[in-house]
Amino acid sequence: MGSSVEQNILVTGGAGFIGTHTVVQLLKEGFKVSIIDNLDNSVIEAVDRVRELVGPDLSKKLEFTQGDLRNKGDIEKLFSKQRFDAVIHFAGLKAVGESVGNPRRYFDNNLVGTINLYETMAKHNCKMMVFSSSATVYGQPEKIPCMEDFELKAMNPYGRTKLFLEEIARDIQAAEPEWRIVLLRYFNPVGAHESGRIGEDPKGIPNNLMPYIQQVAVGRLPELNVYGHDYPTEDGSAVRDYIHVMDLADGHIAALRKLFDDPKIGCTAYNLGTGRGTSVLEMVAAFEKASGKKIPIKLCPRRLGDATAVYASTEKAEKELGWKAKYGVEEMCRDQWNWANNNPWGYQKKL
Ligand code: NAD
Ligand code: WQD
Repeated sequence: MGSSVEQNILVTGGAGFIGTHTVVQLLKEGFKVSIIDNLDNSVIEAVDRVRELVGPDLSKKLEFTQGDLRNKGDIEKLFSKQRFDAVIHFAGLKAVGESVGNPRRYFDNNLVGTINLYETMAKHNCKMMVFSSSATVYGQPEKIPCMEDFELKAMNPYGRTKLFLEEIARDIQAAEPEWRIVLLRYFNPVGAHESGRIGEDPKGIPNNLMPYIQQVAVGRLPELNVYGHDYPTEDGSAVRDYIHVMDLADGHIAALRKLFDDPKIGCTAYNLGTGRGTSVLEMVAAFEKASGKKIPIKLCPRRLGDATAVYASTEKAEKELGWKAKYGVEEMCRDQWNWANNNPWGYQKKL
């Protein structure tokens, strides 16, 4: 879509893992980008590295504001200064375990932040949104692959925020049909930009598999706990649909194009996954191959609430967005290792 030049996109949570990778692609595609992020789970260094990656000319089309979606005034300030054609809404808290212990924090941040955003968008007549949903809305699916029309359920407060926010999006669009909203249900995002300059940098001990493996590989953690070795899968470990973060980033560009080009889009959900399942032990083996490092493992009981196998049906995104993941597990591990090897302590300069 050549007309994308100078379209102005607000990216909430753009300093985070998926946000930074998407912003790089948006700038390369000719969009103007404004990030709002409170840096709760990210650092400004990540935005500096985005600028470095796209170069000085494209950097001029990127603005960063440190602000919090829970403060309506922070969003209003941005909208009163410039017109946005669409919003990509990444900002949110995402740690499942933390959400169980502190649900109020999750409801406040994810729900209040998003409602403030809708209110301000409506006031300024910006009614196109790409929303970060998650495969978590399928709960423990009874069938695989997961199709977008499956029944939705939540297994924990984090998942409930995604489920509620999907319902809120559907209600808003039903009441005001001029809204165009794409709900992207990410499966398991991993990998990093091929440059090794940006990547995932979780605070504290990682909850997710790949950042954990990465920290074992660089010597920050001694071994990987493999949660479950008695699942009814080929090797007994659980199966997930890992997707390269650069494929996800491109999925957002495809979703934006859909929003701009299809007045009948309404509020529509798409899975972003590869459609292929990989077990925990297969992922460990692939990472060992990519890194040349041994990943010591300890076989442990299953983690509470985990499903046996989850992977996406990718048909709808392929057909309607013209998007399909390009990368496999080998490239995911190669790029994640490149990021880890060059930045063993993430964005921190030293210990
Ligand atoms: P991330 O934590 O790296 O990025 C989220 C960003 O939002 C952070 O930079 C954080 O500082 C910011 N933020 C949080 N609350 C904010 C607020 N109130 N105001 C302003 N900024 C705020 O996470 P990510 O992995 O990039 O995930 C992005 C989105 O995708 C999230 O909504 C997440 O729930 C969703 N998602 C992530 C995954 C995953 O495994 N990474 C899977 C499915 C869905
Ligand atoms: C993958 C597999 C673990 C860590 C989570 C969220 C989901 C979505 C994506 C945001 C599982 C096993 C993990 C470890 C292990 N996020 N594992 N040892 O649980 O599929 O999805 O992230 O929306 O909502 O729930 O991803 O990376 O945590 O786990 O054996 O140290 O790896 O048990 O089988 P999950 P994960």
